[in-house]
Amino acid sequence: MLITGARLRDRDGLWDVEIAGERISAIAPAADDTGDDGAHPRDVVQRVDPGGQVYPADGRLVTAQFVENHIHLDYANTAGQPRPNASGTLFEGIQIWAERKAAGLNNPDQIKADALAAARSAASHGVGVIRTHVDVTDPTFAAFEALTELREEIRPWCQLQLVAFPQNGMIAYPGGAELMERALQQGADVVGGIPHLEPTREDGVDSLRRIFDLAEKYDALVDVHCDEIDDAGSRFVEVMAAEATKRGMQGRVTISHAVAMAYYDPGYLARLLPQLVAAGVGFAVCPNENLHLQGRDFGGPAPRGVAPVRTLTEWGIPVAFCQDSMVDPWYPVGDGDPLRILDSGLHVSHMLTAEYLARCLDFISTNPARNLGLANEHGIEVGRTANVLVLDAADDETAVRTKADVLLSVHRGREVFRREPARTTWAL
Ligand code: FE2
Repeated sequence: MLITGARLRDRDGLWDVEIAGERISAIAPAADDTGDDGAHPRDVVQRVDPGGQVYPADGRLVTAQFVENHIHLDYANTAGQPRPNASGTLFEGIQIWAERKAAGLNNPDQIKADALAAARSAASHGVGVIRTHVDVTDPTFAAFEALTELREEIRPWCQLQLVAFPQNGMIAYPGGAELMERALQQGADVVGGIPHLEPTREDGVDSLRRIFDLAEKYDALVDVHCDEIDDAGSRFVEVMAAEATKRGMQGRVTISHAVAMAYYDPGYLARLLPQLVAAGVGFAVCPNENLHLQGRDFGGPAPRGVAPVRTLTEWGIPVAFCQDSMVDPWYPVGDGDPLRILDSGLHVSHMLTAEYLARCLDFISTNPARNLGLANEHGIEVGRTANVLVLDAADDETAVRTKADVLLSVHRGREVFRREPARTTWAL
């Protein structure tokens, strides 16, 4: 396939992007580029389309497929079953999920069908890689087995990473640690956790040490629901940083949510930030979900309950913006569209400035790719995996401002879908 007349994020002018097999095979000045700056005149380069298929981008942005760093596909499309979340809080959501499991409502076929619908929805918005947490605190292992099958079935159009996630606690749930290890033995890619839900602070720290032990034993990545609570005293982020540093696991650890960081006082934060840099951790922040769940019953003004993304970014720490939930006991809406999450994330983080808008797609592509261990595979560069989008926009800022349509999606060199640009005919 040859995508002609592409605008790229890190180069001036227009370019032709050639795909051969699963990889980007060439990037050259556009053959029909009259040149934004006159540097690449028409007919400078002639190329043969290797697949016999040409897609004219006509000056639109060609960028890597989006990467969803944090979602729960096994929960998707279950809202209201067995009951709605009346308080709208995180902990009622956890309670409802436990009730659902106890009532025997989780069956693998239904989970797989609901997860497939959610993954399809995300893919329709340009997502090509998803890291999904999967609840393993369930002796039936219904969700994990369903998602393991789904990982194989959707491989042609979406790469799935599975996180072994102890929703009801690695220690608090009887046998939780054993179920976690079983998931690693059965092919989980990432070790998850939820230390703020464990019975005591000490149990939470103990759970984190066990999580890092499992990661070392199974050569897995780490991604923990950490400090997702409106409590400035919840300080497991520092434990994760310390463990990552001690064990030399820089670049392999993601801290998800980190809600409590929004409540940390400046003195503590000033001590913590350099530790996070040294630990080489990344963050997965879910602005829509945590704006919905956090800061309730505080009176006014209500806190935001979203990690300090702008500060983390200024320190050079990679942050991904993520969906988290789609129509489940925690969050009743969501369609997996990363541009929608990015819009909210930039707002709540006070990042609608020219500097950040110019690079804002990093939050849903480059940064999550780095967190997923895919930094060397991701991006529009020769030799990288051909996970490619054509957006109906010329640059990052326009893409988020207009919530640009994805006009073409390519995964590992194969076209997933194409979409016609919307047309409006004005009558007046
Ligand atoms: Fe989550």
